[in-house]
Amino acid sequence: MRAVVVYESMYGNTHLVADAIGTGLGTACEVSVVPVSQADPAVLAGADLVVVGGPTHLHAMSRASTRKAAVQAADKPVSPLTVEPDAPGQGLREWFGSLGRYPVKAAAFDTRLHGPAALTGRASRGVAHLLRAHGFDVIAEPESFLVTKQDRLEPQETARAREWGAKLAAGIGPG
Ligand SMILES: Cc1cc2nc3c(=O)[nH]c(=O)nc-3n(C[C@H](O)[C@H](O)[C@H](O)COP(=O)(O)O)c2cc1C
Repeated sequence: MRAVVVYESMYGNTHLVADAIGTGLGTACEVSVVPVSQADPAVLAGADLVVVGGPTHLHAMSRASTRKAAVQAADKPVSPLTVEPDAPGQGLREWFGSLGRYPVKAAAFDTRLHGPAALTGRASRGVAHLLRAHGFDVIAEPESFLVTKQDRLEPQETARAREWGAKLAAGIGPG
């Protein structure tokens, strides 16, 4: 079985989560973890499971304006944050805009601040909605992985992402 994890990430946290999900999926699948800027249709060809995630910006999936704001925040001299090399490119929202239909199993995740989702919002809801709109069979509830106010992944989240990936892999047996 083949799984593809497509991620968007400004500061690297969603990238770390995507890698950890990939490690978990690797217990049962051949896995590719790909930034959204490189996720052309050839990458999805032959996938049995597609897992898609990105950061929560303004309660939802990022937009060009929020990605620009994220870069500007990191560019401030006082900021310890660095921007991922792929970050200035397109986000998941734009990627979905040019994506065809895929009758393939899928799951959605995001990163967001710690707190009730009703207050923080969660990008994974929008991702799951767009996955369904493109014909994917969403096999799991959208999952969030949490970052601190300083934009660092909370310590337990890498292990949790690995476990979530392994659980997804277990759910996509033959048929
Ligand atoms: C412009 C901007 C808006 C944000 N808005 C929210 C928000 O509404 N809710 C939330 O939980 N986190 C919000 N955050 C924090 C992001 O979710 C956090 O930076 C992200 O999960 C880090 O992932 P990354 O390192 O992969 O970019 C925002 C961050 C930025 C830069």
